[in-house]
Amino acid sequence: MSDVLDAQREHVFYTWTAQKKASPMEIVGGEGARFQTADGEWWWDLGSTTWNANLGHGHDGMKKAMAEAGGVGLVASPTAAFPEKARAGQLLAEISPEGMNKSFICLSGAEANENAIKMARMVTGRSKVVARTRSYHGATLAMLSLSGDPRRELFEPGLPGVLRFTDPYCYRCKFGLRPDSCQRECASDLETTLLEAGPETVAAVIVEGVTGANGVFPAPAGYFKRLREICDQYGVMLICDEVLSGFGRTGKWFAINHEGVVPDMITCAKGLTGGYAPGGAVIVSDKVAEYFEDHTLFCGLTTYAHPLVCSAICAAIDCYRKGGIIEGVPAKGEWLHQRLLQLQSTRPFVGEVRGLGLLWAVELVQTQKNPILPEKMDAIYAALKKRRVYTFRRDNFLYLAPPLVITIRELEEVVGLVEQSLDEVLA
Ligand SMILES: Cc1ncc(COP(=O)(O)O)c(C=O)c1O
Repeated sequence: MSDVLDAQREHVFYTWTAQKKASPMEIVGGEGARFQTADGEWWWDLGSTTWNANLGHGHDGMKKAMAEAGGVGLVASPTAAFPEKARAGQLLAEISPEGMNKSFICLSGAEANENAIKMARMVTGRSKVVARTRSYHGATLAMLSLSGDPRRELFEPGLPGVLRFTDPYCYRCKFGLRPDSCQRECASDLETTLLEAGPETVAAVIVEGVTGANGVFPAPAGYFKRLREICDQYGVMLICDEVLSGFGRTGKWFAINHEGVVPDMITCAKGLTGGYAPGGAVIVSDKVAEYFEDHTLFCGLTTYAHPLVCSAICAAIDCYRKGGIIEGVPAKGEWLHQRLLQLQSTRPFVGEVRGLGLLWAVELVQTQKNPILPEKMDAIYAALKKRRVYTFRRDNFLYLAPPLVITIRELEEVVGLVEQSLDEVLA
């Protein structure tokens, strides 16, 4: 093991793992859709590092902007005004749906969600929050317990007043329906949850633009419209967590744009800075912004709208725009969709492929939708590693979410490696 890995193992925790089980990679750089490790190997980044390297590795525009911002070395208080802060807010307003013009700028997705929930509580004077059964909203105590993700269980009771409603998981529809003929019962389930809890006690519902780590469930058409209607009817705020699904991941700035629905708040992080700096934001509707004209905003942090974060946000939005990166996603996504459908039609162990843009999951099954065994998933992961393909998996799902700058030729190559890995274990 290298000196770096040795020193790190001794002094810095690895996350989400027993320390002895961690198998870290020493990353030294990267280019586009691939990163390089200290042993000289190049890896396909099919997980966009932590679903955040939307702009790819070694992006010249980002490297230059970060070097410049670091060179200035501005130290500024949370209330200070400086050009990048004003511009970051302006750019976020430009890319957001109509009527969302103000942002709270923080450091991470969990923080963005924490602050969105606090704002919803302050604006509505209510306390409960509804989240979906399969969801992830961050690793802070409150956000993990709000998440439906099984990782919350150790930390319960966490945030009090959390309610749940079902997911648009059409492949295993809880109501036994099909997306081409159902009435979006999964969206209407929100109303059932609200009525059971007493809607006048509920501040907000929080949903991912497309469920990410818990399975990739793109919302069926009409889903968000139905949520919006229910929220309007009961005075509940709609918070769209676009931490993973935002910044072009699904082919638009935000996944909710596909339906043209305007939420009360959008939370973002990850692609917001493309992984070149920490960064998170809550983008709020004019109505929410207006409320805090006269009411104290009880939210803040020492590094609120930090100069490096603001520079990274400005640079990332400039790079997405200049490179036409988001505009390129639908065609790549469609190519990937067709290729995965081909995989599904020739491999009985592929139960379903689902996704949007460059966010996909392959659900692996035995027969009759029975998930494949965990040992098989371990073997597939090992087969992928052998081929230098880095990605995420959960339960019986394998995820494909490459940097948005990947080319179709590169997609062809890496999906070929995925296919080989699956065949090696399951065929
Ligand atoms: C949908 C979603 N929300 C929130 C978060 C938390 O973001 P962060 O890890 O930046 O706190 C994540 C992280 O994976 C996420 O996928």
